[in-house]
Amino acid sequence: MTSLFEEIHEAPPADVPTRRVTITVNGQRRTVEIEPRLLLAHLLRHGLRLTGTHTGCDTSNCGACTVLFDGAPVKSCTMLAVQADGHEVTTVEGLAGPSELHPIQEGFRDEHGLQCGFCTPGMMMAAKALLDRNPNPTEEEVRWALSGNLCRCTGYQNIVKAVLAAAQKMRGDAPGEQEESS
Ligand code: FES
Ligand code: FES
Repeated sequence: MTSLFEEIHEAPPADVPTRRVTITVNGQRRTVEIEPRLLLAHLLRHGLRLTGTHTGCDTSNCGACTVLFDGAPVKSCTMLAVQADGHEVTTVEGLAGPSELHPIQEGFRDEHGLQCGFCTPGMMMAAKALLDRNPNPTEEEVRWALSGNLCRCTGYQNIVKAVLAAAQKMRGDAPGEQEESS
């Protein structure tokens, strides 16, 4: 079991109540002893050392902290970690296989979908949620799915191309082939 206090404080104040929660993170059950006020983003980054989940604003604006919660995209700075007790969380560290990148990661690499990379984990997780429910999105649907994620560098064009390329690869289409959207 991980005690968050051991990792970010020398010792918990004696009068602070804690709760034990178990969360399946990237397929692995993790049990942690945490303060009820702790945000999910902070548990992931500071408690579990999954620093791919970025925090850009802490106010639900930027989307850098996006993770999947039971398969749905959530901004993890807007959730308390105790709300994830008994649920599944997937972070960007859970995307790749043991030896290969996920098609979404390949898409961002191949289409130059990132510059500084700060927004990229959140963008990828929002894209994953989209492609899981809609394997053949239109450009407009990609833009809508990513509309809660801000990027200060790229101008979004290559991010959209990256997601469309990933969708094509995940469908197994030949390069340049576009399925009719229904
Ligand atoms: S850090 Fe969560 S939305 Fe910006
Ligand atoms: S690549 Fe820099 S914020 Fe998006």
